[in-house]
Amino acid sequence: MRMFKLRNKLLAKLLLAVVISFFASFGVIIIILFSPLIHRLDDVLTLFLLIIFTFIGVFWLMVRKKLLYLKLITESVHDIANGKLGLTIRIESRDELAQLAQNINYMSTELENKFEYERKLEKTKNELITNVSHDLRSPLTSIIGYLDLLKKGKYDSETQLREYIETIYSKSQRLKHLIDELFEYTRLSSPDFKLNLKKVDLAGLFQQIVGEYIPIFEKESLNVQKSITDEEILVFIDIEKMVRVYENLFINAIKYSLKPSELLINLELVGDKAIWKVSNTVENPPVDDVNKLFERFFTGDKARMNNRGTGIGLAISKRVVELHNGNIYAEYKEGRMTFVIEHPIHI
Ligand SMILES: Nc1ncnc2c1ncn2[C@@H]1O[C@H](COP(=O)(O)OP(=O)(O)OP(=O)(O)O)[C@@H](O)[C@H]1O
Ligand SMILES: [Mg+2]
Repeated sequence: MRMFKLRNKLLAKLLLAVVISFFASFGVIIIILFSPLIHRLDDVLTLFLLIIFTFIGVFWLMVRKKLLYLKLITESVHDIANGKLGLTIRIESRDELAQLAQNINYMSTELENKFEYERKLEKTKNELITNVSHDLRSPLTSIIGYLDLLKKGKYDSETQLREYIETIYSKSQRLKHLIDELFEYTRLSSPDFKLNLKKVDLAGLFQQIVGEYIPIFEKESLNVQKSITDEEILVFIDIEKMVRVYENLFINAIKYSLKPSELLINLELVGDKAIWKVSNTVENPPVDDVNKLFERFFTGDKARMNNRGTGIGLAISKRVVELHNGNIYAEYKEGRMTFVIEHPIHI
């Protein structure tokens, strides 16, 4: 119905131009017939040509603007096709030509966004490959180096042999951990990835995980101060994935906390969100902007120096929390690093 109306609009304009041109030509006939000055114009062919030219002249004057606009549209489409993505055409009226220009503008900006997205994706992929190659190469080079020493029998004692084997083993473990995390991150980043959502009481689940970790925290000289709400918090989550997120944050707290110190663990219900916090002491913030830690392969200098971290754990955690429509962030305040997860509640 709307299309029909719009189509009629341009048609109406054209019909109006024809009618006005017709009346202008008619006016010329009247002037010629009644004007004493040009009374002598009795050559029929000249008269006929004059009428035709008047008609064409007036018609052209009336549709000129539209024709120029159509030319502008054609040129713009040509420019867009030649790579000027994002180019837009000014909108002049409300007829079908304006509608066409609007659609072309939409197509042009959409194409620009898509290209930009593809470019970013390509850049991220290249960065990922560069980082992965670098991070995989370091432990592998060590492993090959030590294996070479063993192959050539270049060790002085049984103790040194065992030391080399131990190093090879731990480097291989690191390599496996890195490959597993990369695989997990890539899987989670795929658009086809689906969470396996199950209804669970978050407070109960959290109590259970914290309970399992308390002996480990204590062994690491971390004194746990926990505050977990008694309320039932029913949420739909992918239990396995979320448990890995909590565990990753606990393992980070163990790895990067000052020892002995206090570890604060907290779960509370605020409005329609379950707020989960784990807070440990640190000497200095690992980086100035602590939320950068969620970027892939981003590690604090200490973690990199001590070869303790690959920097994917928090990127995976962020991805999992965001797949649950939640929010994860970090704060540094007065010698404490706090990681916060906000879970939306679905009942
Ligand atoms: N609780 C924490 N306290 C202080 N620094 C932390 C804490 N958690 C993470 N960090 C810093 O953030 C960096 C990134 O952590 P992330 O968990 O992503 O990777 P990682 O621990 O280095 O390696 P992995 O991929 O094995 O988890 C760490 O290298 C560390 O510098
Ligand atoms: Mg980690």
